[in-house]
Amino acid sequence: MYQVIDGKKISQEIKDELREKVLGLKAKGERRCLAVIQVGNDPASSVYVNNKKKACAYIGMESLSYELPEDTTEGALMETIVELNERADVSGILVQLPLPRHIDEKKILLAIAPEKDVDGFHPVNVGNLSIGRPGYVSCTPAGVIQLLKRSGVEIEGKECVVLGRSNIVGKPMAMLLLQENGTVTICHSKTKNLKEITKRADILVVAIGKPKFVDESYVKEGAVVIDVGIHRNEDNKLCGDVDFERVAPHTSAITPVPGGVGPMTIAMLMSNCVM
Ligand code: GUN
Repeated sequence: MYQVIDGKKISQEIKDELREKVLGLKAKGERRCLAVIQVGNDPASSVYVNNKKKACAYIGMESLSYELPEDTTEGALMETIVELNERADVSGILVQLPLPRHIDEKKILLAIAPEKDVDGFHPVNVGNLSIGRPGYVSCTPAGVIQLLKRSGVEIEGKECVVLGRSNIVGKPMAMLLLQENGTVTICHSKTKNLKEITKRADILVVAIGKPKFVDESYVKEGAVVIDVGIHRNEDNKLCGDVDFERVAPHTSAITPVPGGVGPMTIAMLMSNCVM
């Protein structure tokens, strides 16, 4: 029988630990405050932003909310970031993505001070991760590592295959697995003989962004499968990049969608905020 890795439960444990940590910081007279910026009112982004603010409140941390109109100029957004960079009472800055098309996302992410970049998207933080120096780590892949560790999955020496090479998930995921002494392969849409490679994986992390892309023919018997994808199917039901029903019986452990990786992203954002 396979283990269903409960991301909701593990993320709750982490948030409860962080709540204690915030109390400890307060006792020492230290405070943390996250500034969350949303440009426009994309409904999915609004849900994410609200959940981030709620999580701050839950762990006892302050947050500031900037809800800027869709037609905000790149210059105006830049000014807001510069101001927040300079504010001593703001310890973290998060710009919710995606940004409207008239704003250059790369330029904006580069403007956030690396020491306040709790998303871990700034090139300085990405570089620090790749050479094993301390810094902020992208929240979703950091959450996957916590899911594995807290479910008793050993990474050291294991064949780890990451399906997907995005800057936010695939690449930092590979770096983190490497740091844990996994043997890491990254696959992507141009990879030849994909199934041959994914079938070698003891730990398969899927972040390819295609609903139910991975079926049992991609998976070695007894592998651990982590599904980073989230989509809505024809019946408006959530599903991942992995066909859970078909794959789960062939695994030793697997994350569901929803309730797997998703809740971990916010827990790790909170962890970054109280670092
Ligand atoms: N949009 C979707 N995921 C994320 C995330 O992790 N951080 C930010 N800033 N925006 C996102």
